[in-house]
Amino acid sequence: MKFFIDSADVAEIRDLAETGLVDGVTTNPTLIAKSGRRMQDAIAEICSVVSGPVSAEVTATDTATMLAEAKVLSAIAPNVAIKVPLTPDGLKTCRVLSERGVMVNVTLCFAAGQAILAAKAGAAFISPFIGRLDDIGSTGMDLISDIVEIYDQYPHFSTEVLVASVRGPHHVVDAARLGAHIATVPPNVLRQLYAHPLTDKGLAAFLADWEKTGQTILAPNETEAAE
Ligand code: G3P
Repeated sequence: MKFFIDSADVAEIRDLAETGLVDGVTTNPTLIAKSGRRMQDAIAEICSVVSGPVSAEVTATDTATMLAEAKVLSAIAPNVAIKVPLTPDGLKTCRVLSERGVMVNVTLCFAAGQAILAAKAGAAFISPFIGRLDDIGSTGMDLISDIVEIYDQYPHFSTEVLVASVRGPHHVVDAARLGAHIATVPPNVLRQLYAHPLTDKGLAAFLADWEKTGQTILAPNETEAAE
């Protein structure tokens, strides 16, 4: 399973990229607004930190203007994926861009039928928003299950399921169980994935017992070399 970071906060992305576990980044107009940065500047900096796909979303609603915006965004870096909304114009844009070899992330997917359309339009990624479905009393993970099952029936579909609107580690684990290709996670969720109280407790006990032995693995000169 690939991990994308769902954020436009470059400091957070830089910090998490150092883990070696980050395969891409997704942004949206809300995340860009939250960053307080000009979109082109934020995307350029993110692309200099992460070599995998970095989604930059168009803000127009008609195909002609979406294509013009996509041209500007694609020129920022070769790893920019153009994000379009799941609307008729968005999917027309997706079709044109994918035929030109541009990676397209189709966003705001809330139904399996929409995901079929996106795959037929040549999307590189489909972004079902599971948290927002949970928020209205549906079960977002059922949508992931449906899309994975449907895409599996059609091996010529090359669209990857990019699980979005992730609220916690449980969403990541459930999506992985279903075989979703990617989870795009807010920075705090990636950090939460590391955490378990028994890991902290176990490590504290190991270190306390080690301290009692008076041993060190590194000799004093080796400690200096490591610094
Ligand atoms: O990038 C889109 C998506 O992940 C949005 O998440 O938390 O605003 O529903 P959220």
